[in-house]
This record gives sequence, structure tokens and C-alpha cells, in this order.
Amino acid sequence: MIFSARYVVASSAALALAACGGGDAADPAPTDSSTPAQSTTETTSTETPISAPAETVEISVSEAFAALPEPYKSADYDRGRRTYKLCQSCHTLNEGGPNLVGPNLYGMFGRGIGAVEGFNYSKAVQDSDIIWTPEILAEWLESPRNFLPGNNMSFAGVRKPEDRTAVIAYIMSETGYSSE
Ligand code: HEC
Repeated sequence: MIFSARYVVASSAALALAACGGGDAADPAPTDSSTPAQSTTETTSTETPISAPAETVEISVSEAFAALPEPYKSADYDRGRRTYKLCQSCHTLNEGGPNLVGPNLYGMFGRGIGAVEGFNYSKAVQDSDIIWTPEILAEWLESPRNFLPGNNMSFAGVRKPEDRTAVIAYIMSETGYSSE
């Protein structure tokens, strides 16, 4: 019983299920390898797994990225959208969208840094002559502070390369990127 109390903390959803299902079958005994059916992904049985192992990377492919160059074209859409949540308190992506703490990003690719009218950029940005490309955005996002010291974007960076690629693909698809 001590055990099941711990389990409740770890997974209230499973508890809810157990409560509805009448109990016995959902007895959480994670160390008992004879427990049937409950653990689908973490089984260490000697049988060859029939379905793909849990580690398989599933990519959510989206039409939205179809027109982008590689590696953005085959980036994971859901990962991109999810990673963008890190930016959305400060930026909008839609055409004509408002500036928030940071500037609206529509049409940014191919344009010089600091070009949104009416946004009060830092001196570091105003003095810079970067032209935005997906690759330069990747460097900016890896560490905004190191890439352009003195800029005002208080954001530590997107650490994982696959998150960066995916969020850049997402931003490209949402801000009217065109390769011309
Ligand atoms: C806490 C608010 C904040 C967050 C979070 C944030 N930014 Fe920013 N961002 C800013 C500010 C402020 C600036 C303007 C920097 C300056 O003037 O020095 C900026 C500038 C930018 C620029 C340059 C825009 C231009 O007009 O040249 C890009 C691109 C950008 N951010 C992308 C992102 C992305 C992508 C994310 C998420 C991964 C993100 N930012 C997260 C506040 C933020």
C-alpha cells in the first residue's frame, strides 16, 4: 500500500483509470515482470519486439514545410510549433502582427536585422548589419547573447540543434519565407 501511494504521486492519470476500471487489474507493481499487459513500451523481454522500439524518432511531417529547403523541409513540425512557445510571449509571426516585448517577425528572412518600424531596438541591433537567413537565425538562437553582445533579447537560447532547426522551419513557414 505504501507503494501505491507513491504511484499516485507519479501518475494521477493512471490512478483515475484504475479507479474507473474497478481496481485489481491495474495494480501498479512496476518491478513485477509477470504483470500482464500494462507496460507496453518499457518491457525488457527477450522476445523481438514486433512494433517499433520506443526510441524510434517519429517525425511529424507537415505540408507547411514542403516548400522549404533542407534541412527545414524535413524538420519535425510539432517540435517546431512546440519550441516556438518559447518565443511567443515576446514575438508574433503573422503579417501585420503587433510588436510585443520583441518585434513582429513576419517577412524577416532576407531582411536586415532591426528593420521593423516602430520597434525600439537596442544599439547593438541598430549597429549590426546582419541579413537574416535561416542559418544566421540558428546562430542567433543558439545563444543570442554571444552572437550579438549587448542586444536586448533576454532569452538564453535554444540548446538542442533539432529544436533549433524545427523552430526555424516553423518560423520560415509562418513568416512568408521565400528562397528567391
Ligand atoms: C523575453 C522576450 C523574448 C523572447 C522569449 C524571445 N525574444 Fe526574440 N527578441 C526580443 C527582443 C526584445 C528583441 C529585440 C532585441 C534588440 O533590440 O536588441 C528580439 C529580437 C529578435 C529577432 C530579431 C528581429 C529583427 O527585427 O531583426 C529575432 C529573429 C528573434 N528575436 C527571434 C526569437 C525567437 C525565434 C525566439 C524563440 C526561440 C525569441 N526571439 C525569443 C525578445 C524576446
